[in-house]
Amino acid sequence: MSKPAADFSVTEGVDVDAFKTAMRQLPGGVTVITAGRDGDISGMTVSSFVSLSVDPPTVLVSVNRSSSSWPLIQKRGVFGANILAADQAALADRFSGKGGLRGPERFGRDDWIVLTSGVPLLRDALAAIDCEVEHVIHRHSHVIIIGRVLELRKSTGKGALAYWNGQYVPIDPDGGHAALRRQLERVAIVEGLL
Ligand SMILES: Cc1cc2nc3c(=O)[nH]c(=O)nc-3n(C[C@H](O)[C@H](O)[C@H](O)COP(=O)(O)O)c2cc1C
Repeated sequence: MSKPAADFSVTEGVDVDAFKTAMRQLPGGVTVITAGRDGDISGMTVSSFVSLSVDPPTVLVSVNRSSSSWPLIQKRGVFGANILAADQAALADRFSGKGGLRGPERFGRDDWIVLTSGVPLLRDALAAIDCEVEHVIHRHSHVIIIGRVLELRKSTGKGALAYWNGQYVPIDPDGGHAALRRQLERVAIVEGLL
């Protein structure tokens, strides 16, 4: 007979690497959480961002307490969630700390806007969601943050970015044709052909 369910903190018999390998089999959407305002900003790539409820519109994300974003979220009580598009893997890399850029340096090359909360939101995100912290649950190394949606912006027509088995996977059912068509239209407009 199997043992009764144990306390959540018991890891006996569970190999950490096997756990990591198992979890890598689960594909996740890629979102950049942004925090802070003006020069005092940071952000992090996450795969744990999901919706919690529709009415009211709330979201949920699990954030490591040792990340540079957490103290800023704690201080301001707001954060941004930028759902990345298929062509934004380099941005995801930058906000995961790869390349060594820190805090405000990670924002350098992109176009950022501000909505109600004042946190930077990515203009070209698939969806940019402005959130207020509603509730925080401290558990192990992480905090589970429940956020109330204040405002959102959506850019249409692009494919999404997923993370699976340790790598970024573009999800673009159109095979990138829509993006190419948009690019060609832009060139045609600049050249005065449309
Ligand atoms: C695809 C991917 C998903 C990630 N998901 C999470 C997550 O859900 N929660 C988290 O705390 N860290 C996650 N991380 C790690 C953070 O991105 C990373 O620790 C953070 O950017 C470090 O920030 P800091 O250097 O500012 O402290 C993820 C990294 C990658 C590459």
